[in-house]
Amino acid sequence: MAKNKNNQTIWNTRIQKKGSALFQKVGSSIEIDKNLYKQDIEGSRVHVEMLFRQKIISFKIKNKIIYGLNRIENEIKKKKFIYDQKYEDIHMNIEKRLFEIIGDEAGYVHTARSRNDQVITDFKIWIRLATKDINKNLDKLIKTILKIAQKNIQTIMPGFTHLKNAQAVSFAHYMLAYVEMFKRDKSRFKYNLENLSENPLGVAALTGTSFNIDRYFTSKKLGFKKPTNNSIDTVADRDFVLDFLFSASVCSLHISRIAEELIIWNSDGFGLINLSDKIVTGSSIMPQKKNPDLLEYLRGKSGNSFGNLFSMLTILKGLPLSYFKDLQDDKDLVFKTNQSLKNCISILNEVLNNFSPNKKKMLELAETGYITATDLADYLVKNHDMSFRRAYQVTSSIVNFAEKNKKKLHELNLKELKKIEPMLTSDVIKVFDLKYSVNSKKSFGGTSFENIKKMITKYKKIK
Ligand code: ARG
Repeated sequence: MAKNKNNQTIWNTRIQKKGSALFQKVGSSIEIDKNLYKQDIEGSRVHVEMLFRQKIISFKIKNKIIYGLNRIENEIKKKKFIYDQKYEDIHMNIEKRLFEIIGDEAGYVHTARSRNDQVITDFKIWIRLATKDINKNLDKLIKTILKIAQKNIQTIMPGFTHLKNAQAVSFAHYMLAYVEMFKRDKSRFKYNLENLSENPLGVAALTGTSFNIDRYFTSKKLGFKKPTNNSIDTVADRDFVLDFLFSASVCSLHISRIAEELIIWNSDGFGLINLSDKIVTGSSIMPQKKNPDLLEYLRGKSGNSFGNLFSMLTILKGLPLSYFKDLQDDKDLVFKTNQSLKNCISILNEVLNNFSPNKKKMLELAETGYITATDLADYLVKNHDMSFRRAYQVTSSIVNFAEKNKKKLHELNLKELKKIEPMLTSDVIKVFDLKYSVNSKKSFGGTSFENIKKMITKYKKIK
C-alpha cells in the first residue's frame, strides 16, 4: 500500500515524524480489540453493500472489498493473520491488510464512516452476543438450582435473620430465592438489549456525513432495530457499556452471596452441607483440611466486576463530548468482566452439582433457638382471641421459661405451658412441629410445600 516518506501508513499522511516506540506501545489496543474482528468485518461488508446500493461506490469495488474482507476473515480464523501494533487497533489492522490484498481500491471502504462509529458498532454487536450468551449460562444455572429444590422440598432448615435462627424454612424455598435473583439478572441483561438495539454506524466522526447513506439498511442487516438519533451523542455514549458492567456486577454479587452462604454452611460450626471432594482443596500443612477454595474464588471475583464498573464510570465522569482516547479502555473492561462472569457462572454450576445438604444437621439446627416461637404467637392470636402484641408477650414468657429450664419448646408439656397461659389446650403442641410450621406459611411467596411445588412448576415453564 502507499506509504509516505517516513514509511508510515497512508492515514498518517499529515504526520511527518515517525511515532515514538513508547507511544506506539501505549497507543495500540490491538491485543484487546482483536476480539472484535468478526463484528468489524461483518460491519464493513454491510457498510460497502450499503455504499453500493446508494450508488456511492461501484459494483466492482464493492465486490473487491468483500472478497478481501472474506479472505481476511479466513486468515484470522486460521490464525494466519499477523496483527501489528503499528496499526493501532483492529480497524486499522484489517484495513491495512485489505490494501495488501486488493490494492488501492481498499481506500473506498472508509467512505462515510469513521473509526468512532465503527468501533461502537462492533462493540454493541459484541455485547449483544455476550449478553445473550450470559443469559444462556444463567438458564443452565437456574436449571441446576431447580433440580436441587425439587429434591429438597421437605428438607427443613433454619432460616436466619442476623445469622440467628429465625423461622423454619424448606431448603428448596431457600434455594429458590437464588432462582429469583438469577432471574432478575437475566431480565436486567435482557433489558439492556433495548439500548443495544440502536445502530451507531453512519454517524461517522461526530456530525454524520454528507454522503447519501442508508442507515436503516445497515441497521437491519446488522441486527439493530433502528439508527441512533443524534450523531454526537452516539459517538460519546457508553451507557450500554455501563449497563453491561452494572448487570454483570449485580450478577457477580449474587454469586458471591450464594458462595458465602455455602461457605458458612460448609464451616465446621454449621456443618449444614457437604462439598464433594471434586470441589475442595487440601492444605499444604494441615492434612485433615478440605477447604472451599472455589467458593472463596467466587466470593472474591465480584470485586473485579465492581472495579471494572467503577473504572468505566470514572472514565466517563466529566468527559466532554464526543470521542476521546479515554474511551478506548471500555473494551478491556467489558471483555474482562464478561470472561470472569462466564467463568463464575460455570464454576457455581459445578459446585451446585457437587454438594449435598446434611439434612440431619439442618433439622437439628432448626430445632434450636426457639424457632417456632412466632408459630406459637400466631396460634394464640388465631385460637384465643388475643392481639398479636399480647400473644408476643405470652410467647416471650414461654420462651423464657423454656430457656430457664434448659428445654426446647417442643419439650414443654401442657402442664408447664398452662402455668403461663391457662387458656392453652393440648392442640397447641402441634405448633412446635417444624414441618407443621413450614407448611403453615401458605401466603403467596411463603415456604409452604404446596407453594414451593407450584413455584418449581412455574419456573420450569418460563423460558
Ligand atoms: N481503537 C479506538 C477505540 O477503541 C477506535 C476509535 C479511534 N478513534 C479515534 N478518533 N482515534 O476507541
